[in-house]
Amino acid sequence: MRRSLDRAACIDDLRTLARRRIPRFAFDLVDGGAESERNMRRNVEALERVELTPRYMVDVSRIDTGTTLFGKAFDLPFGMAPIGMLNAFWPGADLTLARLCKRENIPYVASSAASTALEALAEAADGNGWFQLYVSGDDQVTEGLIARAEAAGYEVMMVTVDVPAAGKRDRDIRNKLAVPFRFTPEVIAQCAAHPRWALSSLRNGTPNVANYADLLKSATSYADVQKTLITPGFSWESLEKLRARWAGKLLVKGILHADDALRCARIGCDGIVVSNHGGRQVAFGPPTADVLPAIAAAVSDQMTVIMDSGIRRGADVLRAKALGADFCLTGRAMAFGVGAGGAAGADRAMDILKLELIRALGQLGTPQFEGVGPQHLGG
Ligand SMILES: Cc1cc2nc3c(=O)[nH]c(=O)nc-3n(C[C@H](O)[C@H](O)[C@H](O)COP(=O)(O)O)c2cc1C
Repeated sequence: MRRSLDRAACIDDLRTLARRRIPRFAFDLVDGGAESERNMRRNVEALERVELTPRYMVDVSRIDTGTTLFGKAFDLPFGMAPIGMLNAFWPGADLTLARLCKRENIPYVASSAASTALEALAEAADGNGWFQLYVSGDDQVTEGLIARAEAAGYEVMMVTVDVPAAGKRDRDIRNKLAVPFRFTPEVIAQCAAHPRWALSSLRNGTPNVANYADLLKSATSYADVQKTLITPGFSWESLEKLRARWAGKLLVKGILHADDALRCARIGCDGIVVSNHGGRQVAFGPPTADVLPAIAAAVSDQMTVIMDSGIRRGADVLRAKALGADFCLTGRAMAFGVGAGGAAGADRAMDILKLELIRALGQLGTPQFEGVGPQHLGG
């Protein structure tokens, strides 16, 4: 396994390795997007289309990838996006990534829907953890999560607003993913073809949505799970209440329009994540690279602008910075690393992104990440 990880030159190579190692139903859970998956593909394409012009004869012998967010210095300008149920992809994935983020001194965003409890993730991320909130239809459930996040010491909370309805993911429907998880003949056949994954999963137990484990015990359908996790009733008034409730930094994840970003700023939020959930919510939406410039122009003097969806290369983080983002999150890129080889695979993904980023800064003639800006765009 080590040898194949060492041969992986880029995140796409890690994805190929992960696809080989993981049964299809579990691989598709992470790899898939909404409906035709157009939005998911376009995220990557739109970033690739952004051209940055190298400037040479600048001394780049010392590269500085660091940046500061909310008064805290981070060593790299990207962090780990919140991912629900990632232990179904590879056992122990959540804790592996939380520990890695601590080691690399970057943020780790613990999902409400993670397969590991938020307290354990706070401990593993050890000061580098942020908490991602899904607002439930049941106020008591939401308040319970917020109180636990406070008690666990999270200082940054990110509320995800782009799930008024669950995304329709055709691959999951074809794979007949059910709640509670069922060992259908297809699933058994796929597990048998991936014995290492199956054994490791058996040892670690069936993954669940740990933060809601008790509440979901009686769930018999996805509809039950969705009602516990999310609500179509979340509104601007709900966001104002959340702002009043949460004393720490509050970020809003899932912003795709400058007017919505401005309204978040007016409500007193500390930042936004320009995100389309990695193309997992709708197929018809725009890629984040296309909407980022207008959003950043509207609010970057008032709040922190983070971008995600489609980051697959170190240079993508520079592209996002040139388009106006202060920082990026990456979801699948790091997930593919874990899927390709557990902790060693996650390390490999991190090294790939980090070294690509350092190389690209040198090529761009900009020794400091903070020096990248719109002046690098185009010719
Ligand atoms: C399998 C999977 C599960 C996700 N779960 C969550 C979640 O629980 N909460 C959330 O806010 N976003 C979730 N996201 C979206 C990510 O936080 C992020 O926005 C997205 O992965 C970025 O796109 P990328 O995968 O192209 O980097 C999930 C994404 C994936 C791939």
